[in-house]
Amino acid sequence: MRKKIVAGNWKMNMDYNEGLSLFSEVVNMVKDEVTGDQTAVVCSPFIHLHSLVALAKGYPKVAIGAQNAHQAESGAYTGETSAKMINSVGATYVILGHSERRQYFGEDNALLAKKTDTVLANGLKPIFCIGETLDERNGGTHFDVIKSQLSEGVFHLDEAHFSQLVIAYEPVWAIGTGVTASSDQAQEIHAFIRAEIAAKYGQGVADATTILYGGSCNPKNAAELFAQADIDGGLIGGASLKSRDFVDIVKTFN
Ligand code: G3P
Repeated sequence: MRKKIVAGNWKMNMDYNEGLSLFSEVVNMVKDEVTGDQTAVVCSPFIHLHSLVALAKGYPKVAIGAQNAHQAESGAYTGETSAKMINSVGATYVILGHSERRQYFGEDNALLAKKTDTVLANGLKPIFCIGETLDERNGGTHFDVIKSQLSEGVFHLDEAHFSQLVIAYEPVWAIGTGVTASSDQAQEIHAFIRAEIAAKYGQGVADATTILYGGSCNPKNAAELFAQADIDGGLIGGASLKSRDFVDIVKTFN
């Protein structure tokens, strides 16, 4: 049975105290709601990681993640944070390839392949984001885009390393727009992703891979999305900044 995950991506929001306050609310509300093969993950800015790990102690179903990591182990990269540093404060996940990093920071598949290797080498689990823009969907190239993001970003991995990954499908046109992919649209791409994984690594690995949906997921649409055969949870932006909304999405699997 593959893991069901609801991961919050706080993006660049909240100062230190605001983050502590939100996470304290979330942990108190979610600790009894995460059951079975489910995990709730909060991916915060670096300044929060150590404190959130401390607050999550005692709740093994609640994990902490970062939103990026540099591809080098260490060195003269002013302002950057390494996977080793992230691991050292007790975080366990790292979002890689988010469309905002691809768009604003020029992160391409080749760089993300290197980041994935370094994150895995430091004992962390990548949440590897893929997804097409509206132009790519309207132009009918979205399947090709997804295929190349997988093949150039993570299909260099051997089976054991790939099995550590979580994949997140985030149609760029649904991120932060309130325009959510329909459950049919999302399921179509999730099934395509799983088929690509099966073709590369075999059906067993494909069936065991957690594939999350991200893009204006909220308490109202989560149930229909998560009921789809190939959607194993969500990567949640705006709704993760409100404790009640995030926990209601986590509870969708109950
Ligand atoms: O990484 C998740 C994020 O990109 C989705 O954002 O606000 O559309 O839920 P949002």
